[in-house]
Amino acid sequence: MAIREILIYPDDGLREVARAVEFPLTGEVRALIQDMADTMYDAPGVGLAATQLGMPLRIAITDTDWRSGEVRHEDGSEPVAARNLKVWINPEFTWRDEGVVACEEGCLSVPEIYEDVDRPAAVRLRWQDMEGETHEADFEGFLAVALQHEFDHLDGILFIDKLSRLKQSMIKKKMKKRKKLQNS
Ligand code: NI
Repeated sequence: MAIREILIYPDDGLREVARAVEFPLTGEVRALIQDMADTMYDAPGVGLAATQLGMPLRIAITDTDWRSGEVRHEDGSEPVAARNLKVWINPEFTWRDEGVVACEEGCLSVPEIYEDVDRPAAVRLRWQDMEGETHEADFEGFLAVALQHEFDHLDGILFIDKLSRLKQSMIKKKMKKRKKLQNS
């Protein structure tokens, strides 16, 4: 169990195209997945791709439920246990809806930036679980958006790449300034 450092834009590691995971999973990959969960819950975030930890493997995790009110402890403290952790290995979209939705997105690798991004409203996904079994299912709503965001990371793509050039250069400036402040 360990929290790992999340790469922050414009780190070059975020641009790596991740490679497919082979089965059975090695102990190292299992430890990575555990650390990804620890890191995501600690951040806190609702999704994390292995690329964001500088490990270019086609693995992403999500838990789009855990920050909602009902999973908080009765004493009001933050939840400590995984509630609906999903592990997606070698994910691949086999269909994308023609209909598009705009949803506000943020990213642990691009802190404090939140912008609307247009994406297909629904997707069909094929992926493998930790045992290597293949699944296929349709997703819509917030989870569909989260999955598209996370799997873009595996191809070195960030949500800010989908914004206007002007916005992108403003964000880059902001992030460089932030880095300078942290290093000073
Ligand atoms: Ni992200």
